[in-house]
Amino acid sequence: MKNETQGVGESNAKIILLGEHSVVYNQPSIAIPFPAAKVSTVVKETSDQTVISCEFYQGLLEDMPELLESLKETIRVTLKQLNKENHPLDIRIESQIPAERGMGSSAAVSVATTRALFDFFNTVLTQENLLSIVDISEKIAHGNPSGLDALMTSSSSPYYYTKGQPFEALKLNLDAFLVVGDTGKTGQTKEAVTSISKKLTKTDSVNTKKRIDQLGELAKKGRYFLENNEATKLGLTMSNVHQLLSELGVSSPELNQLVETAEKNGAIGAKLTGGGRGGCMIALTHDRIGAEKIAQALTDNGAKTTWVYDMRRGI
Ligand code: PMV
Repeated sequence: MKNETQGVGESNAKIILLGEHSVVYNQPSIAIPFPAAKVSTVVKETSDQTVISCEFYQGLLEDMPELLESLKETIRVTLKQLNKENHPLDIRIESQIPAERGMGSSAAVSVATTRALFDFFNTVLTQENLLSIVDISEKIAHGNPSGLDALMTSSSSPYYYTKGQPFEALKLNLDAFLVVGDTGKTGQTKEAVTSISKKLTKTDSVNTKKRIDQLGELAKKGRYFLENNEATKLGLTMSNVHQLLSELGVSSPELNQLVETAEKNGAIGAKLTGGGRGGCMIALTHDRIGAEKIAQALTDNGAKTTWVYDMRRGI
């Protein structure tokens, strides 16, 4: 039963399974919600001014640093909609999602906080309204968001997405475990995206275009494997995707090292996930024992954090 004196909101991380970078060039992509890493926000009444507590800041809402502007905007827009702009609140955010690793942490924080504020004021929040609020803050955080992070951090379904087309919910049917390894280094999405666009227009346009088309084909095949319980073929597809992304120059020595470690330790496939040049990698395996072994090997080879996720749980 809801505690009448507090509002709560939750959200989860997201993982791009296939199609990062090529999605920029209208190729399909597949992303999944990743509930092994969550954000939880609790909102309570306070007597004086609104205070906020999160990993990077504790203090008055109005004094929040520039770096957290997108979160501040989420709270401002939400309170305005609720007509509670001057209501003093105590907002506490706990995030298990590391920032800037391609796991959607900024969108997840906005989703959990918006949900908690609506819950506190006992107001219904539609998914459409949630996405529109998070889109405003994601514009501040990322400039030109596709909406993928907002959707994935707030939903329980994987999606197939091609730019300019509606998001398509996927029915996951895969007996497999996903291991995520964090290099501990922040990803460089913007730089990586820019470097590919430069290659396309200048240095290596023919090969770059060919690789982007191949990534698109692999995402299409990957969709079939995901929906038809073909874990081995999906794993192979992931490794092929990593090879192409490396050739496009968006991997890093740390990511390559972790991908190789996963493959040497029994993964059926592994790749970087998200923008690359840092951030996280993912590996696929058939069972939990295999996944735990890979996670340990990743830790022994420099991963800062690892997560093991059972993909059969019906996300
Ligand atoms: O690093 P992330 O999780 O923000 O993912 C970036 C995905 C790219 O395809 C590289 C860029 C984009 O805008 O789709």
